[in-house]
Amino acid sequence: MESVASARRVTKRFAASAPPALDGIDIEIVAGKMTGLVGPDGAGKTTLIRLLAGLMDADAGEVCALGRPATAADRSAIGYMPQRFGLYEDLAVIENLDLYANLRGLPRSERADSFAKLLEFTDLARFQDRLAGKLSGGMKQKLGLACALVRTPKLLLLDEPGVGVDPVSRRELWAMVRSLTEDGIAVLWSTAYLDEAEKCDTVYLLNEGRMLHAGPPQVMTGKVEGRIVRLAVAAESRRRTLERALDDEAVADGMIQGSAIRLMLRERAEPPSPAGLGVVDAIYEPVSPRFEDAFVDALGGGAPASSALARAYRTIPASDAPAIEARGLTKRFGAFTAADDIRFTVPRGQIFGLLGPNGAGKSTTFKMLCGLLKPSVGTGSVAGHDLRTAAADARQSLGYMAQKFSLYGDLSVRQNLDFFSGVYGLTGARQRAAIERVTEVFHLERYLKDNAIALPLGYKQRLALACAVMHEPPVLFLDEPTSGVDPIVRREFWTHINGLVDKGVAVLVTTHFMDEAEYCDRIALIYRAREIAIGTPDELKARAGAVEATMEDAFIALIEASDAERGREAAAGGRPPRPGEDM
Ligand SMILES: Nc1ncnc2c1ncn2[C@@H]1O[C@H](COP(=O)(O)OP(=O)(O)OP(=O)(O)O)[C@@H](O)[C@H]1O
Ligand SMILES: [Mg+2]
Repeated sequence: MESVASARRVTKRFAASAPPALDGIDIEIVAGKMTGLVGPDGAGKTTLIRLLAGLMDADAGEVCALGRPATAADRSAIGYMPQRFGLYEDLAVIENLDLYANLRGLPRSERADSFAKLLEFTDLARFQDRLAGKLSGGMKQKLGLACALVRTPKLLLLDEPGVGVDPVSRRELWAMVRSLTEDGIAVLWSTAYLDEAEKCDTVYLLNEGRMLHAGPPQVMTGKVEGRIVRLAVAAESRRRTLERALDDEAVADGMIQGSAIRLMLRERAEPPSPAGLGVVDAIYEPVSPRFEDAFVDALGGGAPASSALARAYRTIPASDAPAIEARGLTKRFGAFTAADDIRFTVPRGQIFGLLGPNGAGKSTTFKMLCGLLKPSVGTGSVAGHDLRTAAADARQSLGYMAQKFSLYGDLSVRQNLDFFSGVYGLTGARQRAAIERVTEVFHLERYLKDNAIALPLGYKQRLALACAVMHEPPVLFLDEPTSGVDPIVRREFWTHINGLVDKGVAVLVTTHFMDEAEYCDRIALIYRAREIAIGTPDELKARAGAVEATMEDAFIALIEASDAERGREAAAGGRPPRPGEDM
């Protein structure tokens, strides 16, 4: 097998006092293969990719690419997509492609073909004249990928290409890159989606600058074989049951799956008795492990049993009024409809999920409910306050975590906490106590003086959640709270969310991780601005047909069904197309 790029005993330090970012690392990237790179936040993945791309020098060891030292390699044959890809927001989609084609020296004669293929795969053909700045988060990510792929390279380095990309597009992206490997291209794919790592030929697992595992992913997954079980539980008490299970010595990790819990047991441990967890008439069924289980096991961390944040949180008083209500929310931007007649209600103490492909209208719906965008038609309420008549009260009753990092990057962590607690009306001793509490809960102590923009992604997200909950609101809006964060931090977040919900908080959440969708009490699937399905996770899975359908199967099946229906309507010339369908 032909090695296209490699690192040998590579060490890299950024500060003499800090531990090395990479410490004696070996990696081999081979022609025609998918090489996966995984690890928690701050493991050193991006540093390794930048070394391979020849963007900086190692302190010790050798880094080679395309037969030369990486810093002297032929750049035109290396495709590199950094984590934060630089799009030109004031240029249209097609102009961005053209610009990158110029930079990469793609001959004019090849552009039409290349662009057509990329626009089709990213589903951006309809939007090629839209300014990049007006795309949804995931659409921007896909355009970034398209720009990185305008010219087929020999070595392709992708640094978390799937962040914020919906499950259907991630599958398509995977298939497209896979087909490149069939032409002999060598691919390095760094990812926090471990279902992708599972499909790689070889996976490297990096932690704190050291390599914990290298080899076929199946070998690692095999290490936790026989330790994964599922238990059907009463839907109403699943959060409590999971908390009890995680509190048991024998349980290393656990998650909710619709109305069941899925546990990973410690080595040679007996599962806790169902009766002890408060479950009657149910037995454990063994299930196959996934790569993510092995990852969590190797890093020694699973979901924490309970949330210190939730323990200190007030109990939200009971109320007959829904905590969140959307009544026909519609948003038009010119002739384009971004959200069309969205309706749902969320009672106190429940999690409601908005799922849907990139550009479906999820963030637009969030922003209308938070009072950041004025609906074109329709209204809603938050904690009983109508958005039209009591907007200020509604706003004080909610905590909002935006999809894109929305804190003050050039203020320190401490200043952000001061500022946001002040905005939400906290003063004096209450304010100090709230700041102290979240600093402890989210482990922010050592970063208090650092500028928010410089934090590792997992800490940025923790800080954003901290800022949203300090005033103990009864309603939380979380727009992709776990996007790009590693599986360990994702578990920590869900333990907090579950704990808050038990205190009576109502949560509206969106995610592209289908396993997280399972935590929701109910879900609305949004596609091209409209709600195409609504129900519990188990109901949606049942509608996908297959007995063992996953949330991802359900997502895909429901979208295909909706496409087919739109096609039939169009063919019958029945209902005129709604605004937004054709553009
Ligand atoms: N200011 C604007 N002008 C024009 N179109 C806009 C504007 N803001 C959003 N849109 C469009 O509205 C649609 C919905 O965007 P939205 O951000 O709600 O999607 P989303 O479901 O949150 O997607 P993602 O999963 O990628 O975050 C997209 O087609 C987007 O380009
Ligand atoms: Mg969004």
